[in-house]
Amino acid sequence: MKSLLQINTSIFETHGQSSQLASRFAAEWAANNPDGQVIVRDIGRDPVPHLTAERFQAFLAKPEARTPEQQAVAGFSDALIDELRRADVILLGLPMYNFGVPSSLKAYFDHVARAGVTFSYTERGPQGLLKGKKAYVFATRGGMHAGTAADTESAFVRGFLAFIGIDDVEFVYAEGLAMGDAPKEKALAAAHRVIRRIAAPAEALAA
Ligand SMILES: Cc1cc2nc3c(=O)[nH]c(=O)nc-3n(C[C@H](O)[C@H](O)[C@H](O)COP(=O)(O)O)c2cc1C
Repeated sequence: MKSLLQINTSIFETHGQSSQLASRFAAEWAANNPDGQVIVRDIGRDPVPHLTAERFQAFLAKPEARTPEQQAVAGFSDALIDELRRADVILLGLPMYNFGVPSSLKAYFDHVARAGVTFSYTERGPQGLLKGKKAYVFATRGGMHAGTAADTESAFVRGFLAFIGIDDVEFVYAEGLAMGDAPKEKALAAAHRVIRRIAAPAEALAA
């Protein structure tokens, strides 16, 4: 059974534009994969705590030596990683807040970057351990940034996902959402068209 993991990061939870674009893709995917499973992780609604020295220590401690508190922290991280590991397709809602990714997403990344679990260091440098996945990122912005130096988000997210092994990543942008009704509608309609195309089964595109 194929599995899709949708990660929402908007502070507006399911109402966020990025969450709605991801949900639109998930609905198309579910229609095309009737036996597939869709899992939603909403870190706007249920935030991941900031990483602290204590939490990081829980990751490093040997499983058999962990205190009950450390077990809870490592178990939470393990559960997040398990969701990623099981997913064939990963959707990430990515708003831009104050020139960067939502702080909740950074906290999430801090909890899924685990040495020996999602990445390892080899003689040839770091190696991602989550392989064979396809990710789609739904990037929503009030202004226009894609392709400019102001878009530090895209490179950061692409780089992080590649670091843990997810290197097949496609971005769908909806920009200018704060620039008036007409530009907003145009940007969303364009994103919807892209979603319809990329969510379609490969054989439908070939026909
Ligand atoms: C707190 C906050 C900060 C924002 N900062 C930026 C920004 O730096 N650049 C930008 O282009 N848009 C900015 N915006 C606009 C959002 O990117 C836009 O509303 C987008 O739809 C957010 O995605 P969401 O609806 O999924 O939350 C900001 C919005 C909020 C609420």
